[in-house]
Amino acid sequence: MRTELENRIETVTGTVLPDDVRIVGIEGTDIIRSEVIEACVREFLPATISSGRWQEDPASGIRQDLLSSVDWSLSMVAVRGDAVVGCYLLSRPGDVNAAAAELSGTGVEGLALVVLKSHRGFGIGRALRAVPEAMGFDYVVGTHLKTLGNLDHWLRRRHLIGEEDDMWITAEVFNGPLPVSSPQPAP
Ligand SMILES: CC(C)(COP(=O)(O)OP(=O)(O)OC[C@H]1O[C@@H](n2cnc3c(N)ncnc32)[C@H](O)[C@@H]1OP(=O)(O)O)[C@@H](O)C(=O)NCCC(=O)NCCS
Repeated sequence: MRTELENRIETVTGTVLPDDVRIVGIEGTDIIRSEVIEACVREFLPATISSGRWQEDPASGIRQDLLSSVDWSLSMVAVRGDAVVGCYLLSRPGDVNAAAAELSGTGVEGLALVVLKSHRGFGIGRALRAVPEAMGFDYVVGTHLKTLGNLDHWLRRRHLIGEEDDMWITAEVFNGPLPVSSPQPAP
């Protein structure tokens, strides 16, 4: 039996989740939060090192950054069988909100979207990415290290709303007006 959230995710994505995949909240479960965080640390470490961010200890930098912002009551994981195979860590928009000043309504910030390599290409990332809309938020914002080289992927549905030295800031609006001004990525 699919949950209401999973049904909404399928509506938002227009695709059906694989039968053995569930999208579930973390709070109130025995999912080990530190394991979810460490999977994100491993995934983002190479791009963080090449960005030069937190030079002294990039792994600790990512870990602390996530731990200080994550809202476990909003964050979701993908479970396949018994294993956690992906996550979308979310928070209430923090400083990034300055760049999102034009956005109205209640937003959420996507902190880390990760699917384990062996489970990619099955629609799990797409399902997790749809969580903010399925939860009923008006918009989602996110920062993306430039060294991840994935802005093209995000701009398939999001708008570029800001830029820092090593980060792009993007937003997807589900309800309400689109942001008017956007910086342009260098070709
Ligand atoms: C991004 C990621 C979660 C996609 O997971 P997945 O289960 O393979 O994705 P799916 O098969 O469900 O869907 C593919 C979708 O993801 C998007 N995608 C693929 N690689 C991506 C990437 N590196 N960054 C952002 N989006 C990506 C595709 O554009 C596609 O979008 P579509 O819905 O418009 O077709 C996965 O590749 C991953 O964990 N990458 C490493 C972590 C990362 O870079 N996360 C983004 C941080 S900003």
